[in-house]
Amino acid sequence: MSVWAVVVAAGRGERAGLGENKVFYPCGGVSVLGRCLRALEESALFDGAVLVLAERDLEAYEALRAREGHGMLVARRALGGATRQESVLNGLRALPEDAEIVAIHDAARPFVTEDILRRSIELARQTGSGVACANVVDTIKQVGEDGSVITLDRSRLRAAQTPQTFRCAEILRACEEAAAQGWTATDDADLYERYYGRVSLFTAPDSPGNVKLTTREDFMRMESGAFRVGTGFDAHRLKEGRPLVLCGVQVPAQRGLDGHSDADVAVHALMDAILGALGEGDIGRHFPDSDDTYRGISSMLLLSRVMRLASERGFRIVNADVTIVAQRPKLAPYLEGMRLNIAEALDVAPDCANVKATTTERMGYEGREEGISAQAAVLLAKGSV
Ligand code: CTP
Ligand code: MG
Repeated sequence: MSVWAVVVAAGRGERAGLGENKVFYPCGGVSVLGRCLRALEESALFDGAVLVLAERDLEAYEALRAREGHGMLVARRALGGATRQESVLNGLRALPEDAEIVAIHDAARPFVTEDILRRSIELARQTGSGVACANVVDTIKQVGEDGSVITLDRSRLRAAQTPQTFRCAEILRACEEAAAQGWTATDDADLYERYYGRVSLFTAPDSPGNVKLTTREDFMRMESGAFRVGTGFDAHRLKEGRPLVLCGVQVPAQRGLDGHSDADVAVHALMDAILGALGEGDIGRHFPDSDDTYRGISSMLLLSRVMRLASERGFRIVNADVTIVAQRPKLAPYLEGMRLNIAEALDVAPDCANVKATTTERMGYEGREEGISAQAAVLLAKGSV
């Protein structure tokens, strides 16, 4: 049985506001369309595909195909229409005569998986249609024209996705009929249902990931700038008569760390890691030694300022890991308190903050107990990523 795909890519991507058709936009190095075509190719479920493109995009597509080297599956092309429905119809008309099953798929859904494609095709084989859906996570309210509100039963709602797979002859007839009658629908299942009755829906474990890239927000999440990593290092000298403060915990010790602030070397390394991830230099630039307002100041307070800067930039902490290098005192009994302090300051769950301590077996300045050093690594994520 010959199985084809119709990939619709002829929109303008207006809601994404990228200044070009969104399916040409790179997502993790490869265009959205390229990713989508690769997913179909790699599934090995298709005999061929019809790619539906707008005339204005033909040149851009040729350049993309040459650059990214995909599209082996694209045996035919069709020109897009003014609406998605018209584009689908043009795509279906371009199918070869021996095509029996067709999966209609949005190029704007590049994360479709083999499992979803396979389920969709199987269901269409058995019942005539196989429409990928996701369960709805939000409670949906229906607002009437008079402002009245009805809360819908979420367990009975499904969000329709693509692929939407059908028997070629049947969906083509339904789409031709819709065109003749002037029916409009936002998806193919709706047309099929009007013509033939009930459609078969399915949800799969991968359905939540099979998103349609639609808004600018969706694209921001894809961009490489969505994740940032940073590292920090600091060392302070040990001195008589100073308290020893590490990750905001005052550790009983004969000597403490010398410095302009409370000299919390671990928090300094952590702040440098966050600033590094933000591309914001280091703590010396933000809180200079020459400024008397920082004399004796709690480093935890400075950390809260660094966190404010991160959140103003739209970043949150994913996790942080701190290593303190000290020959003495033994820090193990205090590490859990340090971890909780850091987790709270970074606004993460306790298991996303880690503080550990090591000695250098008496080697180097930490080993000779001249000072204590600390290293930190953090991962930042943008917005809701
Ligand atoms: N599509 C198409 N022909 C159209 C309109 C849409 O082939 N006339 C395709 C899009 O390229 C996309 C899929 O249908 O792959 C889903 O449509 P949508 O997400 O609405 O994309 P756009 O129409 O491009 O975006 P927008 O509505 O924001 O302009
Ligand atoms: Mg659209």
